[in-house]
Amino acid sequence: MRLTQKALTYNNMMKRKVMMTLCLAAALGAQGQPDWENPAVLGVNKLPYHATLQLPSKEKECSEIVSLDGQWRFHWSRNPEERVADFYREDYDVSQWDWITVPGNWQTQGFGTPIYVNINYPFVKDRPRVTTEPPKNWTAYENRNPVGQYVTFVDVTKAMKAQHLILHFGGVDSAFYLWVNGQRVGYSQNSTSPAEFDVTKYMRVGSNKVAVEVYRWSDGSYLEDQDYWRLSGIFRPVQLWVRPLVHIADYKVEAIPNADFSQFTVKAKISVCNTGKKTAKNLLAQLQMDCPELYGVNVNPNHRNVTNHLIQKLPAGDTITIELAYHYDAPPRLWSAEKPWLYPYTVQLLGMKTSKDNEEFENHFGVKRVECVGEVFKINGRNVKLRGVNRHDHHPRTGHYVDDATYEEDIRLMKQANINFLRTSHYPDREYIYELCDRWGVYVIDEANHETHGYGYANKVMGEDSTFRQAHVDRAEALVKRDMNHPCVILWSLGNEGGVGLNIEAMYNKVRELDATRPPFYDSDRRYSAIWDDSYLYPDELQKNARRVKDKPFMMREYAHAMGNSVGNLQEYWDVIYADSSICGAAVWDWVDQGLLARIDNGKLIIDNEKNKDNYPLSILHSPFVFAYGGDFGDKPNDGPFCLDGIVAPDRKPYPQYYEVQKVYQPLTFERDTVDGTVRIINRDYFTAVEEYAISYDTLRYGSEVVLNVAASLKEDRPWAKKGFVVAREQFVLEPWTFSQPDSGISPRTSTAKKENSVLAVDGNTLTSWIVDGHEVLASPLEPYFWKPENDNQTAANFARRTAMWKDLTKVDGITVNYTAIDDHTLRVDVSYQPTDTAGGPRPVIPKFGMRMRLSADYTQIRYYGRGPWENYPDRKRSAFLGVYEMPLAEYETEYIHPQDNGNRCDIRWFEIGNSQSRKLRIDGLQPLCIRAWDYGEEDLQGVRHPQDIKRGRFVNLNIDLNIHGVGGTDTWGKRTLPQYTIDGNQPHHYSFILRID
Ligand code: GAL
Ligand code: MG
Repeated sequence: MRLTQKALTYNNMMKRKVMMTLCLAAALGAQGQPDWENPAVLGVNKLPYHATLQLPSKEKECSEIVSLDGQWRFHWSRNPEERVADFYREDYDVSQWDWITVPGNWQTQGFGTPIYVNINYPFVKDRPRVTTEPPKNWTAYENRNPVGQYVTFVDVTKAMKAQHLILHFGGVDSAFYLWVNGQRVGYSQNSTSPAEFDVTKYMRVGSNKVAVEVYRWSDGSYLEDQDYWRLSGIFRPVQLWVRPLVHIADYKVEAIPNADFSQFTVKAKISVCNTGKKTAKNLLAQLQMDCPELYGVNVNPNHRNVTNHLIQKLPAGDTITIELAYHYDAPPRLWSAEKPWLYPYTVQLLGMKTSKDNEEFENHFGVKRVECVGEVFKINGRNVKLRGVNRHDHHPRTGHYVDDATYEEDIRLMKQANINFLRTSHYPDREYIYELCDRWGVYVIDEANHETHGYGYANKVMGEDSTFRQAHVDRAEALVKRDMNHPCVILWSLGNEGGVGLNIEAMYNKVRELDATRPPFYDSDRRYSAIWDDSYLYPDELQKNARRVKDKPFMMREYAHAMGNSVGNLQEYWDVIYADSSICGAAVWDWVDQGLLARIDNGKLIIDNEKNKDNYPLSILHSPFVFAYGGDFGDKPNDGPFCLDGIVAPDRKPYPQYYEVQKVYQPLTFERDTVDGTVRIINRDYFTAVEEYAISYDTLRYGSEVVLNVAASLKEDRPWAKKGFVVAREQFVLEPWTFSQPDSGISPRTSTAKKENSVLAVDGNTLTSWIVDGHEVLASPLEPYFWKPENDNQTAANFARRTAMWKDLTKVDGITVNYTAIDDHTLRVDVSYQPTDTAGGPRPVIPKFGMRMRLSADYTQIRYYGRGPWENYPDRKRSAFLGVYEMPLAEYETEYIHPQDNGNRCDIRWFEIGNSQSRKLRIDGLQPLCIRAWDYGEEDLQGVRHPQDIKRGRFVNLNIDLNIHGVGGTDTWGKRTLPQYTIDGNQPHHYSFILRID
């Protein structure tokens, strides 16, 4: 509680008043509910949704916008009853209240508890109520419905007061009331769409008190059951718009190409409203385009690029919508993600007599066509493939508020990873990200703020409940109306994991009515989707299912669940997708790990980010900071680490998975003819020629092995990468590595080692001691070891239980290890597994086939020749090329927020690990090896929640393997690693390597 003493007393005093206010609200509600538990009330005095009027990047230059972002006064209460009932009154003193940063969530600023939950509602499901008593251990038991009360003061000048004043809230979670100078203005819900109120009559010259009361949960929360952190407050910018009395209320600009793209028409609808008291006369509503390269091509020279309409009279209180069209008798430059060509324009409202109140907004259009032709999805007539990713609006410090720089970083990283398709899962993002996608070229499926997963996937309850119909439609309308002028939007999504039935039909109809140029999409009720979605399929299921669906294009809106160490078999998906013209693409789940930056304070996790902004690094490498996930704040119910599914970390550091996506998504692929050595380049794009890239190659010799590296890079700078940036690459082995042959040239001094040998002690299959130059090499024995800890993908797939027999190899027959000392410094190890006794039935897959040993903790310098530099596994190694890589042990590890198996490198030919005394252990494979190296043991990963909790530094743990189970690449709730990336426990296996100490 952050109440000051004064406020507390006041609060208690006001209890009676609270009750009165509630009674009043009750009297107004249809069935006695407050607005926030009444699905019939979606807003009070809210202005209609409309398009983003000014390009977000140009908002600072727009004289009509006054930003109210910054420090506001704040008061938090656990529930509505304890809120300060009349804080909005002008005589209520907030000077003792806390400060809070707007925009921002209150939980990430130290108030209340963040809750991470996937499918369940964090409150008791009893719609439309959100305050029904939950189990005692739920966060919502004590904090039944927290209320955040905000106050700021706004100065209004005389000139401003003469204008029309609108308060604009970019996003408030989940519902709020607004007062200005003690007078109630209105109410709103639908947390990710702007809410606007006409405050002209409430404002006065001088200082104005703006008071906002936000409820954590409302009936609207029933439609906001997205799988993410449940955070509250004014989390997007707040603006005061100072507008002429007669102004542009809304506009829509469409650029429609003709059938063969040889001409196009720009159509505009501009709504002008007169909020003044007098009839407005002689206004010119105008669209002025800037298409210089089209000049001179049959364009009427007198009206070049301008189209307008004279509004002779607009009576007070009226709104008029005028329609304009401008036909270009010339082929447009089309907009696509590859070539995001934009035509700038301005929408103007000009007074014919005086220019004083002229209005002008800057924007841009792109000419494109999106269509489903039978089962083929087309953009600009071509069967483009959507190489996608899902993204939540998440920032480790500011929660659901993501600043412009992070948006730019995200879209830059996406473009660099060859991602051309973004799903704004599962709600509209802040406006700026769409502008970036327009400019830099990303196809967007823009999603309505709608998920009712708590009632079940494709549920009828919410899909049919007529009391929630308008609430559904409201979200479809908010989506399309705000974003329809963005060229990047190619599909409208009605939501995610919601209902089936009439409410969805109503959303669908609304979307169709508002915009016919982009097809609607929906996963849960396919009748209302132009594209058939079937997500998280195995590659072969994808192929089968896509063949079965004949009337629509096919898409996996989500696949490759990127939780923890994952994203295996990605290429297998794309082999299927490229081979079937009816599959339009797939989007990885998802972009960023939703870890919240927190400080460890006496064993508890604390968020006080905003106040300590400068002390908080975004990286967690330095304890005492962690990226927190579900349950870390004692939040209940919670879904633990299920919010950590990203291919980049919360600080946007790419995981190895990111590079695999980049590689598999590359627009060019390369094939080498082994007979004549020619490399063929296959272009996966449609609007870019291969010649537009600089192609280069490099022949590299690594000992006996020769590889050819081919690359395609940018010839010019792009907003998201510099000239020379490699967009596609491949590696071919020209001359393969010659693995040292058994007995080649070296004559062993001892064959199978004997116990009495003083330098080598062997006990059964285990090497218990190896002394070289008087030093013991082994910190613990070298032994056959077939176990590996799970990664997140393997937990629900019952990996540990299925493969349990491999944990204790003393009970497994058929394993033989031979140790051969080649000289004092060199030892050869031969491992074989020959299953004989399979009476117990077929044996499960082997987690990894190989050996393990431990060295003293000072062996921390690694150099190897194999795949790298980043972590790779048999089913995720296409991005990791063969090379000689050097790194400290700490970098060999991949630090997953939820600790798990990590750090493997495949196809290792040799591997060296050295210590500070310049002693070095070298491992030479007699075939390729997989090697993991950690400064902790397998057991240290057990039950550990954060990287900081891993007990490190007692030794270096080396796993030297022939092979390891793949990470899996489908989902994290049961699907398994593809069989070709597993190790058959019923087949014999053997391998050898040589150890040398220098
Ligand atoms: C999907 C859902 C996502 C997310 C994912 C699991 O089915 O649409 O929102 O919950 O599962 O991480
Ligand atoms: Mg869900």
